Amino acid sequence: MRLQGRVALVTGAGGPMGRAVATRFAEEGASLVIGDISGSRLAESEASITENLKGGARLVAMRGNSIVREEARALAQNALTTFGKVDLLVNIVGGIRAKTMFEPLVGLSETRWDETMAFNLKPNLHLSQVVVPGMLERRYGKIVNISSINFAGEIGSADYSAAKAAVASLTRTMAIELAPHINVNCIAPGIIRTSVIDRMTPDVRAHYEQKPLLKRLGEATDIANAALFLCSDESSYITGQILAVSGGIWPALG
Ligand SMILES: NC(=O)c1ccc[n+]([C@@H]2O[C@H](COP(=O)([O-])OP(=O)(O)OC[C@H]3O[C@@H](n4cnc5c(N)ncnc54)[C@H](O)[C@@H]3O)[C@@H](O)[C@H]2O)c1
Repeated sequence: MRLQGRVALVTGAGGPMGRAVATRFAEEGASLVIGDISGSRLAESEASITENLKGGARLVAMRGNSIVREEARALAQNALTTFGKVDLLVNIVGGIRAKTMFEPLVGLSETRWDETMAFNLKPNLHLSQVVVPGMLERRYGKIVNISSINFAGEIGSADYSAAKAAVASLTRTMAIELAPHINVNCIAPGIIRTSVIDRMTPDVRAHYEQKPLLKRLGEATDIANAALFLCSDESSYITGQILAVSGGIWPALG
């Protein structure tokens, strides 16, 4: 088992992506602290992930809003109190909270801009600030942030693309600041079959199915397998990287 004895904190674990990551980590022997803003989704994840725990591994689930500093810090603190350490942090929370996924720049409201920035960046900041000191002290830690292939720019996506570019940039800075014992990497998913699909018209969905070289949408398990690699010791010589898990769409800035 690749994560035996490790403690992982996964946010947004009530959703398909976070649940898949936490499940995959449980299968590999990790103990888990999972968080989500939705009590019902979190309870479902808790029940299904518990079945996958191995050996003496344990799971703690805690409801909370990861954008709110006190609530995010309470989640991370709960992990430290329960297990005495956090080895692996996977920040899943993020996305677009507004009803419409795409909004042309000219009509973009300041409220939406602020919300998108907070949603995609604040959980990373709040959680890292609590778990990183222990990682530095123990000289071990792996952090995975979730960006998006949109970080390289996408029509109608000024707020989200900028926020996800900031996540990629934050990953680089964290990798530099926290080296040499903590690996910080970032996954840039393409379109993954999660709640985002429910917001697409059939035409838009068909477009996204055809766009990648591999001619399909991504699955939450595709992200989970990448996160597992980045949180295992198999990736111990990899840090500050942005890994596109996108079926062959290669985003780049510059
Ligand atoms: N799904 C995609 O196609 C896709 C593509 C690129 C990037 N991403 C990124 O992947 C991540 C997951 O997105 P998703 O849309 O697939 O999500 P998802 O459908 O997997 O679920 C997200 C979960 O986060 C929870 N959540 C929402 N706000 C929260 C908060 N403030 N505090 C705590 N929990 C909260 C929700 O209740 C939900 O259970 C995001 O960072 C998103 O930007 C997704």
